[in-house]
Amino acid sequence: MHIAEIPLASLNTEAFIAEQTKAIRNLVGDGKAVNALSGGVDSAVVTMLGHLAIGDRLKTYFIDNGIMREGEPQQIAGWFAKLGVKVEILDASGKFFAALKGITDPEEKREKGITHVFYKDVFAGIVRASGAKVLLQGTNYTDVEETAAGVKRQHNVFEQIGIDPVEAFGYRVAEPILPLRKPAVRAVARALGLPKEISERPPFPGPALAARVIGEVTPERIAIVRRATKIVEEELAGTGAFQYLAILHEDMVTGVRGGKRDFGRQIEVRCWDSADAVTATPTDVPFARLRALADRIVAEVPGVVSVTYNIASKPPSCIEAV
Ligand code: XMP
Repeated sequence: MHIAEIPLASLNTEAFIAEQTKAIRNLVGDGKAVNALSGGVDSAVVTMLGHLAIGDRLKTYFIDNGIMREGEPQQIAGWFAKLGVKVEILDASGKFFAALKGITDPEEKREKGITHVFYKDVFAGIVRASGAKVLLQGTNYTDVEETAAGVKRQHNVFEQIGIDPVEAFGYRVAEPILPLRKPAVRAVARALGLPKEISERPPFPGPALAARVIGEVTPERIAIVRRATKIVEEELAGTGAFQYLAILHEDMVTGVRGGKRDFGRQIEVRCWDSADAVTATPTDVPFARLRALADRIVAEVPGVVSVTYNIASKPPSCIEAV
């Protein structure tokens, strides 16, 4: 890998912001750029850097891929409206679900179901229509490192694995936060004046809830993991953990409900302590709290009869399931 990391300890946030906004201005010239905001700290920082660099010549989209959490598109657009940044919500859910249909292999899901639809179809269309030649995106140091190491193909990494976006998709990709790991990105977010909901937001994967559905991703299965996710996020918010999530399993298990056999679904809960997502250990959540969480999931998520808590560490586990 050729990119030099800027560790948190040697990061000068003001200098970094000045350098990156200048680089964006130079790259875009008097043209236009576009970017996708997912609401995570990475894409939020990139949105603000781009906004500072070229103002209205950066057009920011929230791509509603149908696999985000409940109410997320409107919530994120609302936060940025308060910061004076207009975010256009684009409903592309039909395209993503069509591409994800029938795919069960994790890498294929990421590549064909998410990456290709996102960059080749949805984004190529936006870029063509807008006349922009540059896409700004929030790839960070860990994304590249893990993709290069073959841990997982992060859906937003190209050049480092030999894909030329100009050739493949028709536009250049600029990645201002490439030298930074998450704690450094958060420091830049604070320096940019982003609100706490954004600067301290737990990470969420690019492939969204599709990273938390084992097996085929369908609108119905996403609806189930979305409900479980909401409960997990409400119940574990106070743990101070790095990240917490719900996973929908593919296997069904026998349960009993109302005295009758109920062959049902399984939800796995994960809650992680981690500094940088490279290594992680399960959070020591009090058992009573886990029990309360399980009670809510089986009561509120249709068809769930089993809830498990992951107690393995990363490695060899990963934070997400897919
Ligand atoms: P894993 O599952 O690889 O996750 O242990 C490490 C961290 O990265 C997040 N993650 C992603 N973030 N695009 C992203 O922007 C992705 O494709 C992706 N996959 C995983 C994950 O939530 C965790 O914080």
